[in-house]
Amino acid sequence: MNKFACVVLTISDKGSTGQRKDTSGPILKELLEAKGFAVPFLEIIPDEQPLIEKKLREFSEGGEIALILTTGGTGPAPRDVTPEATLAVIEKEMPGIAEHLRAESFRKTPHGILSRGRAGIRKKTLIINLPGSPKAVRECLEFLEPVLYHALELVRGEFGEH
Ligand code: MTE
Repeated sequence: MNKFACVVLTISDKGSTGQRKDTSGPILKELLEAKGFAVPFLEIIPDEQPLIEKKLREFSEGGEIALILTTGGTGPAPRDVTPEATLAVIEKEMPGIAEHLRAESFRKTPHGILSRGRAGIRKKTLIINLPGSPKAVRECLEFLEPVLYHALELVRGEFGEH
C-alpha cells in the first residue's frame, strides 16, 4: 500500500439512475488498488455541472485525497460537462497530462481526440478527467502509469521527503 488515497468519480446520467451498470468506476478502483493506492470512495453522479463541481471541491478540500479520477462526460455530447466543471474548480492546470492522454488514445483509436478531458490541481489534490468507457479507462490508466506517482509527490510537496 502506498501513501496516496484516491477517489473515483463516475459521471454518467444513466449510471447514476441505474439505467446502465457502471463498470468503469469499479475497474479504475481495482486497477488503482492493484497499484497500491487506497481508494476509499467510489461514487456515481449525473452529468450536472454544479454537482460535479461540488463533489470535486468536497474531495479536494481537506487534503486527505491525493488524486481524483473522473470517468465520463468528457465528450462533445450536449450533456458532457465534466471538463467545464473541472476547469471551474482547479487552481492550476496540468495540460501535459490531458495532452498525453489524448495523444496516446489517438494511437489506439482516432476517437481518442473526441475526449475534451482536463487535468489540474486544487489545493493538494490532482484531478484528472478520463473518458467514460471501460476500454478507455484501462488504456488511460496505463498511459498515466509512468508519471502518476511522481506527479502526486510533487503536487503534495512531498518529493524528496522521507
Ligand atoms: N480514449 C481511449 N484511450 N480509448 C477509447 O476507446 N474513446 C473515445 C474518447 N477517448 C476512447 C478514448 C470516445 S469514443 C469518446 S466519445 C471520448 O473519449 C469521450 O468519452 P466520454 O464522453 O465517455 O468521456
